[in-house]
Amino acid sequence: MNPREFLDSKKEVRLEELKAFLRFPSVSAKSEHAKDILACAEWLAKHMEKIGFNTKIMPTGGHPVVYAEYIKPGNRTTILYYGHYDVQPAEPFELWKTSPFEPIVENGYIIARGSTDDKGQLLTHIKAVEAYLATGQQLPVNMKFLIEGEEESGSENLEKFINDNSALLKADVVVVSDTAQYGRNSPAVTYGLRGIAFMEVKLIGPDRDLHSGSFGGAIPNPINVLAKVIASLHDESRHVTIEGFYDDVLPISEWEKKQIARLPFDEKEFLEKTGAKGLMGERGFSVLEQLWSRPTLDINGIRGGYQGEGGKTIIPSWATCKITMRLVPNQNPKDILDKAERYIRKLCPPSVKCEIIKHGGAPGVVVPTDGPWLEAAGRAIKTGFGLEPVFIKEGGSIPVVSTFKRVLGLDTLLLGWGQSDDNAHSPNERFAIADFERGCYSALALIDELSRLSR
Ligand code: BES
Ligand code: MN
Ligand code: MN
Repeated sequence: MNPREFLDSKKEVRLEELKAFLRFPSVSAKSEHAKDILACAEWLAKHMEKIGFNTKIMPTGGHPVVYAEYIKPGNRTTILYYGHYDVQPAEPFELWKTSPFEPIVENGYIIARGSTDDKGQLLTHIKAVEAYLATGQQLPVNMKFLIEGEEESGSENLEKFINDNSALLKADVVVVSDTAQYGRNSPAVTYGLRGIAFMEVKLIGPDRDLHSGSFGGAIPNPINVLAKVIASLHDESRHVTIEGFYDDVLPISEWEKKQIARLPFDEKEFLEKTGAKGLMGERGFSVLEQLWSRPTLDINGIRGGYQGEGGKTIIPSWATCKITMRLVPNQNPKDILDKAERYIRKLCPPSVKCEIIKHGGAPGVVVPTDGPWLEAAGRAIKTGFGLEPVFIKEGGSIPVVSTFKRVLGLDTLLLGWGQSDDNAHSPNERFAIADFERGCYSALALIDELSRLSR
């Protein structure tokens, strides 16, 4: 049996294994799931050990990394695979049609939290390796798998881990499957991701809630002030007004404009996917330019005042909001956070106290679009999907990709098997079994393709 035939013969088993992986509620953001995270890491390590990797669970400042390698002297290429075994919280539970950690198969989809982001996608590469080793073949490349448990919480401990283990992680190229295809039957190689910067703003007025009749009109209402601050962060054209926000943004290159113009894009279909009633992006840019090549600012949550049933006539003591900015390459998250802080402080009147927490972030990335690596990735996809891939960027972020470049000097090949309507981070997350399958065959072809290249 050759590796392809092995994949052919194990479709059912593979799906059961994915289900087992998905049953762990490995939610990194919530401390109540710390045990589940560990159990998931242990399952994964054992699974990889059984396949033939040398595996260890390595501590970090947070949730552990699962590290697995296969080294054969004489192989000239070393691939560093990255993925994450943690998942987003499943809330709101009531919007799930089935239980988020009890995977089921329906209409060709496997439905569970983590199915597309990222357990299902990650598993394809492991299954490709298994296909080699289980059929008595040696791998033509060396492999190192770095699988983390904190991606969905910002990968805050991973940079230090990579710094501390840079010799262990030495490789020629990084491979990540944690993005999406461009559309149905339109697989893609992703050559760019946006970065991200997080912050929280807290405005404090009176030192406790006050009667809004006795004090309203004279005493500052921090929610009123916060609303005004937030409204001042964009102008009429929906540009971000923070001073210097766009200073380091590079103009969209002619090559990229052409590339984007070549891609089919149906606005109606795009809207239908989201349920939104209309578009509302930065003026002067197409939707794909807005999503892929322009920085943004969004309020992710806002709190303060009375939220309970009925009314309560108060001037609230405080108001908070969470802000994320999506960044493009060449923008520095620290610098952007400093600029945002300076601007927000200027917007705040002296009658409220303004506390700002800057959480850091990660820069955006682009992968060189010329050169043999991306072409090899394209050929692997062509083999696995039987379809010509397109070259795209994504608006989401994978923080560690910039770390790979900065610390290890490595470019990353982003090969996504998912779909943008797989409901990642949403209720009823799903992954098409056909995409899982095509991912496995592409992952197999990729090993072959990359074995012919080295740095
Ligand atoms: N897999 C996503 C990244 C992604 C999202 C790629 C959309 C392509 C399209 C990843 O798991 C993710 O959700 N990243 C977070 C990072 C954040 C928590 C620092 C994101 O983009 O919000
Ligand atoms: Mn992911
Ligand atoms: Mn995610």
